[in-house]
Amino acid sequence: MFRSSRGSRETLVAGALAIAAWSLPSLAVAGEPNVERGKVIYRKCIHCHTIAPNGKHRIGPNLFGIFGRKAGSLASFDYSEAWKRADFIWTERTLDRYLIAPRKMIPYNRMPFDGISLRQDRADLIAYLKKVTRKK
Ligand code: HEC
Repeated sequence: MFRSSRGSRETLVAGALAIAAWSLPSLAVAGEPNVERGKVIYRKCIHCHTIAPNGKHRIGPNLFGIFGRKAGSLASFDYSEAWKRADFIWTERTLDRYLIAPRKMIPYNRMPFDGISLRQDRADLIAYLKKVTRKK
């Protein structure tokens, strides 16, 4: 039944590969960042961060427009002292470094999150965030 058309077979194969990559992350080949996968990984952040324009702050600040913004710089969010002292701009690179180990890069920051150890997971998440937080 799945062989009725070429398209559905390809979809099936792509789906199986995606599931394989997802369930065996340590074996996933580092490839192009995958925005769709990044969206799934963003579920780790969704409890504390919104990403829509003018989104509310939750436990953490709204992340819309994050790339190119100075760290800890939203006047409407009450950052910890650790962030108020931070002096760098959010780029793919700095966010990648941060997400490896948030409390290593910014000691005493209040973000209760241990980090994302897999490079591909971080790359996918960053690709997703770049897409959805970009100012038009
Ligand atoms: C349990 C809540 C929580 C989770 C989960 C969480 N964060 Fe945060 N995040 C915070 C808090 C709180 C702060 C501000 C920390 C402070 O003031 O010390 C923060 C700060 C940040 C900042 C700095 C924002 C700025 O304006 O400079 C970024 C970027 C960020 N988080 C990204 C993420 C990403 C990406 C994820 C998911 C992988 C995530 N966070 C998961 C609570 C969370």
